[in-house]
Amino acid sequence: MTQKTEIDWVDHFKKVCICRSITGGTIMKAIQDGALSFEALRRAIRVGTGNCKAKRCRPKIEDKLHAYRCALEVEAKRSKGEDAASPPEPGTCDGGDACNP
Ligand code: FES
Repeated sequence: MTQKTEIDWVDHFKKVCICRSITGGTIMKAIQDGALSFEALRRAIRVGTGNCKAKRCRPKIEDKLHAYRCALEVEAKRSKGEDAASPPEPGTCDGGDACNP
């Protein structure tokens, strides 16, 4: 197993919203199903509705949303034949040229 794959599996099963016991995999599935904002995720899977009112989980979820939107943008550029950088990992996007969600 490569290190990237190992990290993906850990992220998949790791609880991101601790108050609601919602894992990264559940969040990514909802994002891929079209919940592309924190409010949409809140409505879809009730993430961020626990006792801390999203103080702990919202930054991590916003990072995942940002990285997903960046990846979509990069993929759209590639499909048009434009030069595009690799999509960023969650939490690492610096808002550079490849990022414009
Ligand atoms: S960790 Fe998500 S609502 Fe508290």
